[in-house]
Amino acid sequence: MAKVLVLYYSSYGHIEQMAYAVAEGAKAEGAEVVVKRVPETVPEEVAKGAHFKLDQAAPVATVAELEEYDAIIVGAGTRFGTVASQMRAFWDQTGGVWFNGKLVGKVGSVFTSSGTQHGGQESTILGFIPTFLHHGMVVAGLPYSFQGQTGVEEVKGGSPYGASTIAGGDGSRQPSAIELEGAKFQGATVAKLAAKLSA
Ligand SMILES: Cc1cc2nc3c(=O)[nH]c(=O)nc-3n(C[C@H](O)[C@H](O)[C@H](O)COP(=O)(O)O)c2cc1C
Repeated sequence: MAKVLVLYYSSYGHIEQMAYAVAEGAKAEGAEVVVKRVPETVPEEVAKGAHFKLDQAAPVATVAELEEYDAIIVGAGTRFGTVASQMRAFWDQTGGVWFNGKLVGKVGSVFTSSGTQHGGQESTILGFIPTFLHHGMVVAGLPYSFQGQTGVEEVKGGSPYGASTIAGGDGSRQPSAIELEGAKFQGATVAKLAAKLSA
């Protein structure tokens, strides 16, 4: 059984919802799945002033525990076309893990969210992948066998690079059914790959 960590950062709850969908998909493939957050880094008054969702139940992850997993699926929103700094700050503390090669051969995968449809989802995911590669990890995305990512009948996130959702400029749009399906598919894909690699 593969052990999968879904490691997320979410200011307003969109990525939080996607994280549990990713976890559901991985669990359906028989993986042991843990959902955790990275620490908030903005001052509390800033988070409150910006109406961040501060009641998130997932425990906060530590860098030291990363080596316990066969796969790490990272979820974080787009900030100015790249990954949220809270997630970046967490991974910037993994120098010792990298030095000791603790993540070599494990699976890494990314999902994201943005306010606007073309606000940088692909650049966010692709911009994070070098971190996995520097750690010697094997990267998985959202294969086109998830056909929900094709078609233009509705506004939707999701690309071969990873699942995603579009929050809307004011954050009022919630992950749609097809976006949550994409998240589940990505979780299942990673769980299957991790089970094979760790066998
Ligand atoms: C400082 C900041 C920068 C942002 N930059 C972008 C951006 O470049 N493109 C975009 O579409 N959305 C941008 N957004 C919107 C966020 O991506 C959106 O709020 C987030 O994906 C929602 O996910 P969450 O509810 O999990 O936080 C930005 C938001 C903030 C606060």
